[in-house]
Amino acid sequence: MTTYTLRSASPAKTRADVVVVGVVSTTKGVELATGAEDVADAWGRRLRPLLSSLGVKGKTGEVLTVPTGGVLRAPLVVLAGLGAKDAVDPVAVRRAAGAAARSITNAASVAYALPADSPELVRAVAEGSRLGGYTFTPYKSSGGSEAPNDVVVLSPIARKKEAEQAFADAEAVAGAVAAARDWVNTPAADLTPEKFADSVAAQHKAAAKGRTKQLTLRVLDEQELADGGFGGILGVGRGSDAPPRLVELTWSPKDPQGHVALVGKGITFDSGGLSIKPAQGMTTMKCDMAGAAAVLQATFAVAALELPVKVSCYAPMAENMVSGNATRPGDVLTMYGGTTVEVLNTDAEGRLVLADALVRAGEDDPDVILDVATLTGAMMLALGDRVGGVLGTEEVVEEVLEAGRAAAEAQWPMPIPDEIVERTKASKIADVLQHDWNRWGGGLYAAAFLQAFTDGRPWAHLDIAGPAYNNGGAYGDVTPGGTGFAVATLVEFIRQRGADATA
Ligand code: BES
Ligand code: MN
Ligand code: ZN
Repeated sequence: MTTYTLRSASPAKTRADVVVVGVVSTTKGVELATGAEDVADAWGRRLRPLLSSLGVKGKTGEVLTVPTGGVLRAPLVVLAGLGAKDAVDPVAVRRAAGAAARSITNAASVAYALPADSPELVRAVAEGSRLGGYTFTPYKSSGGSEAPNDVVVLSPIARKKEAEQAFADAEAVAGAVAAARDWVNTPAADLTPEKFADSVAAQHKAAAKGRTKQLTLRVLDEQELADGGFGGILGVGRGSDAPPRLVELTWSPKDPQGHVALVGKGITFDSGGLSIKPAQGMTTMKCDMAGAAAVLQATFAVAALELPVKVSCYAPMAENMVSGNATRPGDVLTMYGGTTVEVLNTDAEGRLVLADALVRAGEDDPDVILDVATLTGAMMLALGDRVGGVLGTEEVVEEVLEAGRAAAEAQWPMPIPDEIVERTKASKIADVLQHDWNRWGGGLYAAAFLQAFTDGRPWAHLDIAGPAYNNGGAYGDVTPGGTGFAVATLVEFIRQRGADATA
């Protein structure tokens, strides 16, 4: 276990195995960043030639470990690139902290002396260092490198209330993001809907100690789903030997300032069903429950932070498999609430489980609904694999984008055009058409389909098919595999709602 503390102290005099400082580029060459002034002073006139002979450029992502030879109290300094001096912002600091954390493999104590003179920057250092150092080792027979015992974030405003708050927020958010990554990284065989729901129940039990009335959990099993008429969840899950679940986690603080509903896609594995995926497209489909992981962990974080907003979280969980009993293209499903849907592609399963959960969410009369889903490859084609798409009610979309900026998660608005809404009404035998074979705007069509189940409520849909899973190497505070994308945006969105209401 690593202990994190926020302190105001001199990085040159701090007792630690490693001190991390920022390097920025200027028109006159490289220099150490804000926060490292007394490290620069300790080296004095020898610093410039040292940086130059090391070939340090101050580029983002750059990290270099250098022995201090007694110049600092710490034996090693890690130089982390922050980019151009006048463009240093919380995103750059978060990335540098993440890259530095990953490069430190064998230290018992680490001190971060990156720019941290505002609450936003304190948060960036604290979250970046925790998340960049994330590893997932349960399936490795010999464990990786040891995490440090002590991490100190140095900040000149460490004793200010806002800084302490930002540091505590960062702890809750980074813990939630890491937990979401763990779920996504767990192989689908070990995270069936039932096991996923059990894991939520175990975390709920620990988190609800002493406040069982505020943090409540309900898990519907396949029988209860059948009794309730959840045709979407059952229709997708029926091809699997592992039966589906619907998890409902609720945070109800005293005198809540508003009510936010969260809905997350929890497909524990997506083979495509009878409309089966090609082999390569299936390899990462254990990630198809990343939306459920995000909304559940965001709700746990909101509860840990005791934010004054009611949150109702719904996670429909199912495994999309092939069998003699699987849903067929052409079948009609009756969703929760009675709307009928003609299924034309069993690989467009996410919208089916979400439809049930959206209707269920509406029943509790929230002020706003946010759904999060690894929904379409089309959104990846449009936005790449590091940017999420946000669609829905205009004001809510804007609010999500704003929260995303504060949370350092890249998102972009996409439209739901009328002509695409019209296409979802084109079924000859049912109320709503799940899919048509017009490929253009597949991510928009999916959102138009979901909108039919929101009952006209304020709503936004976050399509995280790209950024939920990192197929490449680590960058900044993002590690390979599950990324925990959307957790931070959701917590920020809810925090903002609470703050606006109290203001
Ligand atoms: N889970 C996939 C979407 C996805 C693709 C997520 C790649 C992450 C990476 C989803 O269920 C799916 O299969 N969508 C289809 C929809 C199509 C059949 C309309 C797609 O995008 O191809
Ligand atoms: Mn699919
Ligand atoms: Zn899917």
